[in-house]
Amino acid sequence: MYAALCCVCLAALSAIVTGGDLLNDCQLVGGDKKSSTELALLARLAPLKNKRFEAKTQEGSDVYTYTFSVCNRVINDSTSTNEGVLQTKSDSKQTSVIGRINDTHIINGTDWVMFIYGSGDKYDNHCNNEARKAMVMISCNKNTLGDGFTVIKEERNKSRECFYLFEMDSSLVCPPEESKLSAGSILLIVFAVLVAVYIIGGFLYHRFVVGAKGMEQFPNIAFWQELGNLTADGCDFVCRSRPRTADNVYRGVGDDQLGEEPEERDDHLLPM
Ligand SMILES: *[C@@H]1O[C@H](CO)[C@@H](O)[C@H](O)[C@H]1NC(C)=O
Ligand SMILES: *[C@@H]1O[C@H](CO)[C@@H](O)[C@H](O)[C@H]1NC(C)=O
Ligand SMILES: *[C@@H]1O[C@H](CO)[C@@H](O)[C@H](O)[C@H]1NC(C)=O
Repeated sequence: MYAALCCVCLAALSAIVTGGDLLNDCQLVGGDKKSSTELALLARLAPLKNKRFEAKTQEGSDVYTYTFSVCNRVINDSTSTNEGVLQTKSDSKQTSVIGRINDTHIINGTDWVMFIYGSGDKYDNHCNNEARKAMVMISCNKNTLGDGFTVIKEERNKSRECFYLFEMDSSLVCPPEESKLSAGSILLIVFAVLVAVYIIGGFLYHRFVVGAKGMEQFPNIAFWQELGNLTADGCDFVCRSRPRTADNVYRGVGDDQLGEEPEERDDHLLPM
C-alpha cells in the first residue's frame, strides 16, 4: 500500500522535474488555443502512440537509419531532447534530430494524415542553417495498424523551408466505413429471422410438446390455411380481369363456396 503510494509520488515528482521541456507527448503548435481538429487527430492516432518505426537509406557508403516515434521521444532516457524523428548514421552512431514532438502540426484529408515535426537540429551548411523539419505522410491501409515506414526524400537544395519527407501506412487514417446495410435491409433481415424463429420454434413445439405429425407440426396451421384461402379469394376478386363465370361477378368474396351449400342444407331440412 505505502509502496504503491510512494511509486505514485515518485512518478509525479519525476513528471514535475522532467515536465517543463521533456514531454512524453506531442505538443501542438498554436499557443494556448489548440486546433480541435488536431486534438481529434491525436485522439484518433492514440493506438500508434509509443510505437517506433524505422527506415534506412543509403547515401554513398553511408547508411542512415531514421526512427519515427508517434508522439513519444525516440531516445528513452535523460539525454532525450523531444526527438520525434531521429537520424542515426550507422557506423559512427552520430545522430541528428530531424523533428521534435514539442513542435507538432497534424493535418489530414479523407484518407491520410500528415505529421509535421519542426524544431529539428539546425543544418550545418544547407538551407541557411535553419532547423530541420520532418513530414510523415500516413496513408490509409486497412490491413495494418502501422507499417511500411519509408524515406521518400530529403529536400535541402533550397534556401529555406527544407524538409525530410517520409510515408507510412495505417488503418487509423482510413475514412470511417459506412454501414453497407441500409435501415430497410436491416428491418428485412430482422423480419426474416423472426419468421424463421417462429416456424422452427413452432415446429419443435408441436412435434415434441404437443406430439403433432405431418402438416400439423406447423405452428397455427389452421389459421395460416384459412389466411391462405382468404388471400387467394382476395386475389381472385381483386386481380382477375375476366370473370370466371358471368354469374359470380357480383356475388362477392366466398360466395362460390356458399353457392351450393344452402341447397344441400335445404335437402336435409326437407321432411322426406
Ligand atoms: C523506456 O525505458 C524503460 C526502462 O528502460 C522501459 O521500461 C520502457 O518500456 C521504455 N519505453 C519505451 C517507449 O521504449
Ligand atoms: C522543444 O524541446 C527542445 C529540447 O528540449 C527545445 O530546445 C526547444 O526549444 C523546444 N521547442 C519548442 C518549440 O518548444
Ligand atoms: C480530419 O480529421 C478530423 C478528426 O478526426 C475529422 O473530423 C475530419 O473529417 C477529417 N477530415 C477529412 C477531410 O476527412
